[in-house]
Amino acid sequence: IKLVTTHQMLAMKQRGEKISMLTAYDYSMAQILDGAGIDVLLVGDSASNVMAGHETTLPITLDQMIYHAQSVARGVKRAFVVVDLPFGSYQGNSSEALRSAIRIMKEGGGHGVKLEGGAEIKDSITRILTAGIPVMGHLGLTPQSIYKFGTYSVRAKEDDEAQKLLEDARLLQEIGCFGLVLEKIPAALAKRVAEELTIPVIGIGAGPDVDGQVLVVHDLLGITKEFKPRFLRRYAELHDIMTEAVQHYVADVKSRDFPSKEEGY
Ligand code: KIV
Ligand code: NA
Repeated sequence: IKLVTTHQMLAMKQRGEKISMLTAYDYSMAQILDGAGIDVLLVGDSASNVMAGHETTLPITLDQMIYHAQSVARGVKRAFVVVDLPFGSYQGNSSEALRSAIRIMKEGGGHGVKLEGGAEIKDSITRILTAGIPVMGHLGLTPQSIYKFGTYSVRAKEDDEAQKLLEDARLLQEIGCFGLVLEKIPAALAKRVAEELTIPVIGIGAGPDVDGQVLVVHDLLGITKEFKPRFLRRYAELHDIMTEAVQHYVADVKSRDFPSKEEGY
């Protein structure tokens, strides 16, 4: 099977084929998603929430992101694997950013990295790019800045924030990012960014007029029970399916139905 590359993603945008992207944090899930034909897998720092149970993405470490990346990389045959640089591993220090990105590529087996922010992290992105590492930007609702925002609600509804986002998006393309994630911003603004930029723009809660979509896989599968934002479409109710399966197992163990004679040696 042919590997998905940044060049192919660019070609997909040019011919109007939408790019499909999902998060993955472990080997088994990565195998399923890759086998199902996903274009891009994101080893998101949302692992901090989904895998580790933290309230925010801030606590996850670079070592933990590398562990998740390794696990995902082993399960992938075709998809392009993007890995989030975690909070504190790239901001304000471009040498540390480069060091972190190199570890993600070398130890984690990623194909590229994603960083949150625009002009503020220009030097870090530029430095990482000098090593030949593909970089994806992330603007709009950037969860590593949750304590600055104070809320997970829609960003860039006001003109000044929308203007700054537009400028940041242009800057990210200009310095060499291969793509950009826009999270939870008005659809009209996302459309404008995707039209203006030549690099692929992937949306989450950013409406239909972008070049691709990304979701957290546990949300799409309905494993996370309570999280139901407007932008989320649930394609399965795995929380209920898994609960019923485990309840059935518990009952069978209690009733001695499991294991049967045939299930022993
Ligand atoms: O960590 C993550 O899951 C993400 C996506 C929501 C874009 O960054
Ligand atoms: Na993330």
